[in-house]
Amino acid sequence: MENAKAQDSNEELDITLNHDHILILDFGSQVTQLIARRLRESGVYCEIWPFNHAPAEKIKAFNPRGIILSGGPRSVLEKDAPEAPAVVFEMGVPIFGICYGQQTMVKQLGGKVEAEQSREFGRAFVDVVADSKVAKGVWDKGAHEQVWMSHGDHVAEMPDGFRVIAKSEGAPFAFIADTDRRFYGTQFHPEVVHTPHGADLLKNFTHNVCGCSGDWTMAAFREEQIAKIREQVGNGKVICGLSGGVDSSVTAVLIHEAIGDQLTCIYVDTGLMRSGESEQVVDLFRNHYNIPLIHEDASDKFLDGLEGISDPEIKRKLIGNMFIEVFDACSARVGGAEFLAQGTLYPDVIESVSFTGGPSVTIKSHHNVGGLPDDMALKLVEPMRELFKDEVRELGRELGMPEDFIRRHPFPGPGLAIRIPGEVTGEKLEILRKADLIYLDEIRKTGLYDEIWQAFAVLLPVKTVGVMGDARTYDYVCALRAVTSTDGMTADTYPFSHEFLGRVSTRIINEVHGINRVTYDITSKPPGTIEWE
Ligand code: XMP
Repeated sequence: MENAKAQDSNEELDITLNHDHILILDFGSQVTQLIARRLRESGVYCEIWPFNHAPAEKIKAFNPRGIILSGGPRSVLEKDAPEAPAVVFEMGVPIFGICYGQQTMVKQLGGKVEAEQSREFGRAFVDVVADSKVAKGVWDKGAHEQVWMSHGDHVAEMPDGFRVIAKSEGAPFAFIADTDRRFYGTQFHPEVVHTPHGADLLKNFTHNVCGCSGDWTMAAFREEQIAKIREQVGNGKVICGLSGGVDSSVTAVLIHEAIGDQLTCIYVDTGLMRSGESEQVVDLFRNHYNIPLIHEDASDKFLDGLEGISDPEIKRKLIGNMFIEVFDACSARVGGAEFLAQGTLYPDVIESVSFTGGPSVTIKSHHNVGGLPDDMALKLVEPMRELFKDEVRELGRELGMPEDFIRRHPFPGPGLAIRIPGEVTGEKLEILRKADLIYLDEIRKTGLYDEIWQAFAVLLPVKTVGVMGDARTYDYVCALRAVTSTDGMTADTYPFSHEFLGRVSTRIINEVHGINRVTYDITSKPPGTIEWE
């Protein structure tokens, strides 16, 4: 399905006809997506385009109210350094250059950039020396404000028409502006939380300088997408694979609202789900929403297929292939389906057109159970291509979906199979389900569920000796994992109290036959990964 995801972002432009919108040109910064998030949070629709996938005609046709130039890892002093397309400075729209974006703007407009003796990273303070529309009501003249810097070069000479708004000891041109042309540039990153008022500066730029009205709301998005789905699908039939996760669930509910029973959902029960999960999915979709649903219990097939397999990558591939086989057979039963609905999100779209490309090394082949073969000959319906994960949750709320469904922790496609290192058996699955249920029950009771990105139990292929009552036991070891994260790319261990961990351990050992020892995993990511396989 990768090729289907990699459509050009031009294809989604119709949404911009209805809303004020901003273009973000990406120079490869790690935090470019945060610029988009800050803008969306203030009700402004925006898109991120790689700087080198932005021909002049396309930018003009997009007709943004303003343009933001992101940071980036390169130096403008390098030969062939990335530049903003010249048209950007000729369109008469406001521009905000951040870090590398500021430096390339300065260089392209005739100013000077120099290499720093030493690179400046992290927290810094700026003195605000002049008023500006971007700082109005946020930073007063004379104030001393915290910002977050991350740069190797700095502006040494401003182009004509610019003046300094704020400066720091290390960066005399930390914040500059040409108010006539409405060009602004910061050496620091306003998009990160470590610049405490950064989001307000960006809001001033989009609302007060660019004149955006902040009309990008979930209610408006919902109505627009419903109209769009009806237009795309007509009287056709749509199938949608449900995984039990937030993305596919919200996709299905939105599409059902648009086209009713022209949608059939397919839920392949792999037998690798957590306790009660399949029942919840079936109950929500079939009984609560009355959405036609094929619930295919394929647990025997998956368990047979996994017999004797302990290599994690082979497990993932086998599960992916079996899933496709079962899904294919189910969709044939629907008969005459022309469309396949997918919960593709904006980060997947950006990734697929990013000039920096994806990771070069395969750590794990994240074989999504939702990944379907290219030869299905179905047209894609992807109503959430413009949304970030937190916006999907907001849309779910807008659609009245149950809160506990919306807040669910992510769950991997291959399910519990990758939480049982070594061979997966029915007996081990049963043991793990019970332990996991107790762990999550205690987390919910303690009110910690929403603070945690993911929490789960892992059943190790190791037996150890214990003593219960007067008897010797020889049972499995269970490891508990809980992490905080914002995107799953990096993660920290959740700092449970010893009292909490002791309570969970006691309950698991007392209540789950087959486990006599519990450990807590305190590895961050990196170097560990979130899942154990
Ligand atoms: P790792 O273990 O790579 O996980 O740190 C990062 C995030 O990805 C999820 N994950 C998967 N999701 N298929 C999926 O759909 C997979 O094979 C898979 N492996 C890991 C993991 O749960 C975490 O949220």
